[in-house]
Amino acid sequence: MTNQSDSIILIGPMGSGKTSTGRILAKEMDFDFFDTDEEVVERTGVSIAYIFDVEGETGFRHREHQALMKFLDNDNVVIATGGGIITNDESRAIIRSHKRVVYLKTSIEKQIERATVSEKRPLLIDTDPASKLQELMLTREPLYEEISDIKIDTDERKPSEIALEIIDRLR
Ligand code: S3P
Repeated sequence: MTNQSDSIILIGPMGSGKTSTGRILAKEMDFDFFDTDEEVVERTGVSIAYIFDVEGETGFRHREHQALMKFLDNDNVVIATGGGIITNDESRAIIRSHKRVVYLKTSIEKQIERATVSEKRPLLIDTDPASKLQELMLTREPLYEEISDIKIDTDERKPSEIALEIIDRLR
């Protein structure tokens, strides 16, 4: 059984600032911070791009789900998730069941500006990142909207400002 404590789950696309905002938010709230991408990389010892190559996206989604479940065993944590976690039915159901799910809404233009192409983001390698991000948003945006409790526009804000707004809105 997962913990329904005060834990906060951050969702949103690549480049929405989940990790940087999450770190600040956790510090401000005196919560622990966890990141599903970091956990998968740490646990496997390889890059996300390598996992996609060897196990496909399905393998990565499974590992991402395991990381989420592990983190939710803790009380009072901030969890930054990968942008595609909501495409996994099981992960989406668990996230939806939580009460403090924050969607960091971000325009495609800002995502392009912020989401660097690297081994952490295989979906953006060897493709036009702008078209790929656009394509992903078409199917994912309704899911982010559906399962979030709070939605915050990140376009004109720094992570520290977003973190403070989250604290304010959670009161
Ligand atoms: C992904 C987003 C990435 C990472 C992986 C897949 C996605 O995380 O989990 O490359 O499907 O949108 P960030 O959202 O932290 O970039």
